[in-house]
Amino acid sequence: MKILTVGGGGREHAAVEALYRSGGEIYSVMKNANPGIINRAEGYLLCDEKDVKRICEYAKENGVGLAFIGPEAPLEVGIVDALENEGILCASPTKAAARIETSKSFMRGLVDKYHIKGNLAYASFDNAKDAEEYVKNVDHEIVVKPIGLTGGKGVKVQGEHLHSFQDIMDYINEIFDMNIGGAGVIIEEKAVGEEFTQMVFCDGKNITPMPLVQDHKRAYEGDVGPNTGGMGSYTDAGHLLPFITESERKEALDIIQDIVDAMAEEGCPYRGPMYGQFMLTVNGPKIIEINARFGDPEAMNVLTLLKSDFVDVCYRMATGTLADNVEFYDDATVCKYVVPEGYGVKSVSGKEISVDIDSIERCGARAYFANVDQKDGKLLTGTSRSIGIVGVAQTMEEAESNCENALRYVKCDHITVRHDIGTRALVQRRVDHMKQLRGL
Ligand code: AMP
Ligand code: GLY
Repeated sequence: MKILTVGGGGREHAAVEALYRSGGEIYSVMKNANPGIINRAEGYLLCDEKDVKRICEYAKENGVGLAFIGPEAPLEVGIVDALENEGILCASPTKAAARIETSKSFMRGLVDKYHIKGNLAYASFDNAKDAEEYVKNVDHEIVVKPIGLTGGKGVKVQGEHLHSFQDIMDYINEIFDMNIGGAGVIIEEKAVGEEFTQMVFCDGKNITPMPLVQDHKRAYEGDVGPNTGGMGSYTDAGHLLPFITESERKEALDIIQDIVDAMAEEGCPYRGPMYGQFMLTVNGPKIIEINARFGDPEAMNVLTLLKSDFVDVCYRMATGTLADNVEFYDDATVCKYVVPEGYGVKSVSGKEISVDIDSIERCGARAYFANVDQKDGKLLTGTSRSIGIVGVAQTMEEAESNCENALRYVKCDHITVRHDIGTRALVQRRVDHMKQLRGL
């Protein structure tokens, strides 16, 4: 089957590999020349991923029957609505359904309206003065976020990034002054616990779970520094995480199912992969965000493990025929993103990077190209994350060691990696933190 993919990052490379394994004939649109995607594609177009008109033309010219959209930006401008108008099936949500991610106030409001569990106290503002009144009177710690999209980098947390009333107001004013996210400010209650990602496949009605993943948003080792799109992530053998119980996971899945039901009820049924980011607290999982797509890096973990035919899963998401038999290998995975020096603040970009794929695979790992550009026979880094390396093995410890061994085969003078991701010490810290909160 001819399939259109949109996006040129690590998540999309992982999706393209999974589609290719399942016999998909791939036509890809991306803004950067990602060599991993190009290697698997029958054809590709380099263009703005939000250029809906051009992308539709490209899809029609090549007679594609099914589309998969990786990033949120094209979803926000209605690429799925346009492709569906041309009779192309889409394994991704419409513009109205993507509001679950593109508007944080829509998401919180929907969860409230349908009395779904897991919500946090929140208030949305279209001006700094009202926000200031709220901040003065609120009696718990808060998190300040732009309501609209910011590529995962717009969130500031009291006690971590914001240390005083002045810090909070400075950031709120900055969001309004610079129009960050383009839609105002949402102030949320700060949840305390351990974060996890539960992604599901969804066909408008039914959901099928993927393995649990833990991402690492902070830029630097030890979970400090600015928030990023995600520096790396791991899954454990058996698809749970070491600090969460089966029944807590079930609570998160029930929350996602309730959201999917609510969206159908609202007349904007959700089709595609859905991403639930939760904080596991002593009072159960609380919703941090819901995204209208796979997570990046999380997609690299789970798609590496996907045993079922991904073309079939996408077709079923698009046509409302998802069955409850999507299978994953039982292995553990550890993904570490190689990022440009300065990533999270100001990236050093345009540097030559080399990747020895065969040696990486011999280490029991996979390489997924992300924000790199193939130019004049050279591979150059961009300003965002460069290459995801995913170690795979029967245990997390071996997967981490495979990942570290493989990282030796990525060479560039201006890159960094969070080496602590997936290590026994960091995972144990998470387990201990949860135990301490539970009073054990
Ligand atoms: P987001 O982009 O919404 O996932 O936020 C980025 C990161 O900020 C999350 O991964 C959390 O670590 C943190 N965060 C966001 N919202 C909250 C919240 N309500 N309580 C505590 N931490 C949060
Ligand atoms: N890894 C977080 C995200 O994709 O939003």
